[in-house]
Amino acid sequence: GPRVDSGAAPGLSPGSTVAVVGTGTMGQGIAQVALTAGHSVRLYDSAPGRAEEAVAAVAGRLERLVAKGRLGAAERDAALDRLHPAAELAGLADAALVVEAIVERLDVKQGLFADLEKVVGDDTVLATNTSSLSVTAIAGGLRRPGRFVGLHFFNPAPLLPLVEVVSGHATDPDTATRAYETMRGWGKTPVRCADTPGFIVNRIARPFYAEALRVFEEGGADPATIDAALRESGGFKMGPFELTDLIGQDVNEAVTRSVWESFFQDPKFTPSLAQRRLVESGRLGRKSGHGWFPYAEGAERPEP
Ligand code: NAI
Repeated sequence: GPRVDSGAAPGLSPGSTVAVVGTGTMGQGIAQVALTAGHSVRLYDSAPGRAEEAVAAVAGRLERLVAKGRLGAAERDAALDRLHPAAELAGLADAALVVEAIVERLDVKQGLFADLEKVVGDDTVLATNTSSLSVTAIAGGLRRPGRFVGLHFFNPAPLLPLVEVVSGHATDPDTATRAYETMRGWGKTPVRCADTPGFIVNRIARPFYAEALRVFEEGGADPATIDAALRESGGFKMGPFELTDLIGQDVNEAVTRSVWESFFQDPKFTPSLAQRRLVESGRLGRKSGHGWFPYAEGAERPEP
């Protein structure tokens, strides 16, 4: 059920309204988490009909939780009563927190937040779910950048507990604390960090993928062998190749490129030619039916 922190924690009160802008993969997951934490949730997406689709998608996921006995039918009904699409940004005016999960483009995100600032109250916390852009840069045009923070969820947001709470140069420490405590109230495991490229996880994971790709490119071993070695070593649930097939080769490569470029093309982060060829040929991983490995319909494990 909902986990709500009581007491002195300065997180958002559960009855307050959370807005999610951009209702694709991440926005839907974040909306579900906010909803089950007790908030009223408003969804906005610039693509017509997308927010309504997201409402239906979240309802579907809550339905599956009910079927599995992990959520009561009454709780589900109450949650869905609190979930509403908004036809325009002005419909987000009463939000205490706005989480942005739109397209990963600096200019588009800056434009959205400039518009949002005209709509919401001065105390509204504005948050971005960006995985590769600078939080400081996104906040650059704001009148009040102190209330801006990164809230980097991981996919799928309802399942993965980690949230990186990212402070940009102008982020007010109280804003970061408020965001951190709110994530705890949502049952997440937040960590605080500063605005360096890739934050913590996406950066430290780069060499894991990069060295695996280099071993393969040097003819050291094939992907299935490398994956098996990492899995059997005990510490890794998945090897680097099957994991990037799950993430999507295009998504994984884009993060690598972004970190590489952010560090002025430091060779340590150089993208892989072998991965480039996969992306170019449409072998994106599970979502395209083929990546490093082929995937039968509904297959859970790669079939090397
Ligand atoms: P997505 O493509 O599934 O959804 C993006 C949504 O934003 C779309 O519905 C689109 O119509 C909407 N949109 C685009 N421009 C808009 C605008 N100006 N105003 C309102 N809505 C707009 O994307 P996804 O994967 O959910 O990613 C969203 C953000 O989350 C990106 O910043 C991405 O870097 C970040 N992220 C993605 C993760 C992932 O694994 N997919 C993990 C963590 C962060």
